[in-house]
This record gives sequence, structure tokens and C-alpha cells, in this order.
Amino acid sequence: MRMIKFEHVGLRYGIGPEVLKDISFSLEPGSFHFLTGKSGAGKTSLMRLMYLGKRPTRGLISMFGKNVNGQSAAHMTQLRQKIGVVFQDFRLMNHLSAFDNIALPLRIIGRPEKEIKANVEELMEWVDLHDCAKASPATLSGGQQQRISIARAIISKPRLLLADEPTGNLDDSIGAKLMGLFEQLNRMGTTIVIATHSKSILDSFHHPRLVIKDGLLSIETIRSPFSSFEDFSEQESIYNA
Ligand SMILES: Nc1ncnc2c1ncn2[C@@H]1O[C@H](COP(=O)(O)OP(=O)(O)O)[C@@H](O)[C@H]1O
Ligand SMILES: [Mg+2]
Repeated sequence: MRMIKFEHVGLRYGIGPEVLKDISFSLEPGSFHFLTGKSGAGKTSLMRLMYLGKRPTRGLISMFGKNVNGQSAAHMTQLRQKIGVVFQDFRLMNHLSAFDNIALPLRIIGRPEKEIKANVEELMEWVDLHDCAKASPATLSGGQQQRISIARAIISKPRLLLADEPTGNLDDSIGAKLMGLFEQLNRMGTTIVIATHSKSILDSFHHPRLVIKDGLLSIETIRSPFSSFEDFSEQESIYNA
């Protein structure tokens, strides 16, 4: 089974031009990919299709082995619950504490409060936020808010984690630390796609890259962690992915 499969997918907003054109690729369960491309290339748009926040204008998408075209709204919600999303703009609720923001996905699915408390506390420790449980996200730094949004995305143990520029606007040391968390999650079996244009992250972590350019997607694999990207990257046919 493929975790994600796109076949000839296109996307346009309203009557605008096609932002994504004829995109075909698939990702294996347990894989870790970067999604790169210039600002405006379509990274966030591709993320929206992957977290089922938007339907494609054309083409087929299947997630977890299920074709999502024509699925009922109820079914889409079920599929979405297997996907954790870190939004580019965090989307935290400022009238809730950090703790309650992170607890939200578990409350929505009706887990018992005792279990929620244990899980949220463990995760807050893991992302180094234990001192801010009661704070409103609005009073915290960008880095702290980003870690709240990451904790919220992973608390329900999603099979797929999609993170849109999760290290944007953070200094490199915090960014590297967050990447360490993602690596750890991936080793525990979560499939991960991270949109980034951070050169330092792309240079430090050697995961294959989904590259969007001119509305089209290609996959670049890095052959050796000890070689420079220019010398050893290769263009693969996206149809073999
Ligand atoms: N909600 C939207 N409505 C109309 N156009 C949009 C919308 N979101 C993105 N776009 C357009 O789609 C293109 C790709 O944007 P986006 O996916 O945000 O790129 P990236 O995340 O790579 O910066 C841009 O031209 C952008 O203006
Ligand atoms: Mg974006």
C-alpha cells in the first residue's frame, strides 16, 4: 500500500491559472521527504491536497490506499484524523492555554481526561514546553508556538505528518532541534513530509526532496550524505516513485 498516491493531479484556485499541473508521485509508508520550491511555487497548495483540505481540479488522489475522489464528507473526516498537520501560520487558539491547544485533537475524539493529561504532559516535556502549560500561545515566542502546533499535530499519533515550513522564522539551532523531533517520530513509524526552503536544513538532513517548479513535481534523491547535493543528486522519473 502507498501512503499517498497522486495521478495526474491539477489544481487551480477559482478561475486562476493552474497552480499545480499534472502531478504524479507516490510515497511509501515510513518514508521521510522534504517538499521544496521557491516561494509561490505551490508547496502549501500541495500540502492542502495531501491533508484533504482541498479537492484537486483534476486527477486522482489516494491516501492510505483509498481513492479520495468521491468520498463522502464523513469518510474524508475519518481519513483526515490519520493525518497530523503543522500549518505554516500555526493556527493556535489564543483563548486556550498551550495545554488545551495540544489536548484539542484528543478531546475532539472523546478520550478520557486522565489519559489526555498524561499524554499532553509527556509531549510537552518532549518538545520542551513544560513551563508554559498554562500560558496563552499569544504570550509565547514564535519558536514556542511552533512547538505547540507540532505537539498538537502529533498527539493523536497520526500515521502521516505534514509540516508546512515548521522551522520558518526560527533560528537554526531551534530548527535543528525540531528536525531532531521529526527524525525521532519517523523512526517510530510516522510517514513525514516537511515543506521547507531552509538551505541549512536541506543541507543537514539527507532526505529525498519533492521539488515543485512551474507547477510540476520531480523527486531528487541524495545518494551520499558525504557528498554535495550538486554532485550527487539525481532526477528520478516521478512515475517510478
Ligand atoms: N487560497 C488561494 N487563493 C488563490 N490563490 C492562491 C491561494 N493559495 C495560494 N494561491 C496561489 O497559488 C500559488 C502557490 O501558492 P502556495 O501554494 O502558497 O505556494 P508556496 O507555499 O510554495 O509559497 C501562488 O501563486 C499563490 O498566489
Ligand atoms: Mg507556503
